[in-house]
Amino acid sequence: MQTRDDYQRTASYYDFLLSRGLRSIRTNIRTCLRHYDVTNVIDICCGTGEQLHMLGNENMLLTGIDLSEAMLAKARSKSPATIHYLETDACNLPFPDSEYDGVIITLALHEKTATQQQLIFKEACRIVKHDGHIIVADYAAVPEGYNSTLIGKVFIPFIERLAGLDHYHNYKDWMAQGALQGFLENNCTGTISLISQHAKGCIHIYAISKSKDDPLGADLKKIEAHFSEQNSKGVTT
Ligand SMILES: C[S@@+](CC[C@H](N)C(=O)[O-])C[C@H]1O[C@@H](n2cnc3c(N)ncnc32)[C@H](O)[C@@H]1O
Repeated sequence: MQTRDDYQRTASYYDFLLSRGLRSIRTNIRTCLRHYDVTNVIDICCGTGEQLHMLGNENMLLTGIDLSEAMLAKARSKSPATIHYLETDACNLPFPDSEYDGVIITLALHEKTATQQQLIFKEACRIVKHDGHIIVADYAAVPEGYNSTLIGKVFIPFIERLAGLDHYHNYKDWMAQGALQGFLENNCTGTISLISQHAKGCIHIYAISKSKDDPLGADLKKIEAHFSEQNSKGVTT
C-alpha cells in the first residue's frame, strides 16, 4: 500500500516528460470509449488527469481517483469542474458494484506489488457494469526486433529505475510474470481484446468485458479500421 506520496516530486514534471509520448495511447483509449458508447467513466490511478482532460468534451460523466495528492492537484488545476477527482486507494474503492460502463487503468499496474495489482483489477471488475468495458494499457512482453529491444529492454527499464527502487522491483516482477498478457491471462475471466500496440509493441491496450458473450469481435473490426487509418496518418507509434 502506498503510505507516502511517492509522486510528490514527479507530479511537477510528469506531463512535461510523458504527455507527448503517451498521446497516441490516450487517443486510442478515447476512440475505444466513444466506440463503446460509454456514459459513466472512471480512470483508476488517474495521475495528472491527462486522459480525463482529453475526454472532457465527450459528454461523459468523468471521475478520476488517485492516491497522490500532488498528482491530483495537477489534475484539478487543468480540468473543468465537471471532472470529479477523489483521493482514494484503488485497492479498495468507495463505489458500489456495477457503477461504471468505462473503467480505465493506464500504466498503473506494473509499478504495484502483485497483491495490489490483483486487488486493483478485482475492484475494476466489481465496479464495471455487466455490459461495460475495462480498458487497460500497460507494458507488454517485449517483442523481438532491434527497436523493440532498445525501447523495452533499455529505455523503459531506465525510466522505471529513475522512478525509484521499489517501483523498479515491481516493474521487474511484472515483466517476469509475463507482463500485461501474463497478468490478464492469470486474472481475467471475461473477454480480452487487443486494441492497439504502442512503443514498438512494448505497450499494449486491451479492452476487457466481463461477459463471455460480449460481441467484441464485430466492434473490434470497426476499431481496427479506425486505428489503421490513424496509423497510416502516423498518429499511433
Ligand atoms: C505511472 S502513474 C500513471 C498515471 C496515469 N494513469 C497516466 O496514464 O499517466 C501511476 C499512478 O498511480 C497512483 N497510485 C499508486 N498507488 C495507488 C493506489 N494504491 N491507489 C490509487 N492510486 C495509486 C500514483 O499516485 C500515480 O499517479
